[in-house]
Amino acid sequence: MACTECHTGAERKEAAGFPAVAKCQVCHKEYGAAIPSRRVYKLPDFVFFSHARHVKVECRSCHGDVWEQEQVTVFRAPKMKECVDCHKERHAAERCNVCHELGQ
Ligand code: HEC
Ligand code: HEC
Ligand code: HEC
Ligand code: HEC
Ligand code: HEC
Repeated sequence: MACTECHTGAERKEAAGFPAVAKCQVCHKEYGAAIPSRRVYKLPDFVFFSHARHVKVECRSCHGDVWEQEQVTVFRAPKMKECVDCHKERHAAERCNVCHELGQ
């Protein structure tokens, strides 16, 4: 399945989002677990991040090969150094206020 079948916001919105349990029940009739059961990647509120602004970057550059992971674990930490290192490599913006609102 394509990642975006379940994470429908990943190409168009800030948040990739999670599927509703009803979507699983189409095939797994008895399924009733909470989704998500836990959060793996979570930025503090003072950081601006948008999946839509990263459509040209493959999911696996940040999340690794999810299908190979028994449980999703952190591949590329959502830390400032990781963000800025990749922005340098790919010539993306590095100004502080791209990721932080500074008195705007
Ligand atoms: C289109 C049908 C379909 C949908 C929708 C679907 N699944 Fe599945 N799922 C399957 C099939 C087929 C398997 C493989 C079963 C097997 O190999 O025994 C599977 C396997 C799994 C397994 C592994 C089970 C095991 O015993 O190893 C989990 C966990 C799972 N699905 C969770 C989900 C969740 C959570 C959702 C909703 C987000 C979901 N599935 C949506 C068809 C579906
Ligand atoms: C069948 C639906 C389905 C598909 C397809 C799917 N995911 Fe997921 N994904 C889930 C569910 C459900 C969870 C939450 C699991 C939990 O909490 O136990 C999840 C969790 C995640 C997380 C952890 C998010 C967080 O911070 O907590 C990431 C990252 C992720 N998926 C990326 C991907 C990528 C990349 C792909 C494609 C390679 C993909 N997913 C395909 C259903 C799906
Ligand atoms: C440039 C790195 C990067 C790329 C590329 C990326 N993500 Fe994420 N992802 C993140 C970060 C950082 C978070 C935490 C966001 C937050 O807490 O606001 C996240 C969070 C998530 C979550 C948790 C729910 C949410 O919306 O916050 C899911 C699911 C997810 N990503 C799936 C995907 C999928 C699917 C793709 C590819 C279509 C993808 N990501 C591409 C970095 C990335
Ligand atoms: C794997 C590489 C990679 C990582 C990791 C990454 N980014 Fe990016 N980011 C990019 C690229 C490439 C662009 C430019 C995309 C374009 O122009 O289409 C971008 C663009 C952005 C933009 C929009 C910039 C603008 O000019 O408006 C923001 C905001 C952003 N990233 C925030 C973050 C944050 C916050 C993190 C860390 C949590 C992060 N990024 C991690 C590659 C990355
Ligand atoms: C590409 C995105 C990005 C850019 C550009 C960026 N930051 Fe950050 N920054 C983050 C992320 C993500 C965090 C939260 C995670 C962490 O603490 O590493 C953060 C955290 C911080 C914190 C809190 C640190 C702490 O220990 O709590 C400060 C202060 C900060 N940034 C200042 C700056 C300044 C000043 C600049 C410009 C020189 C800048 N940032 C540029 C992404 C970015």
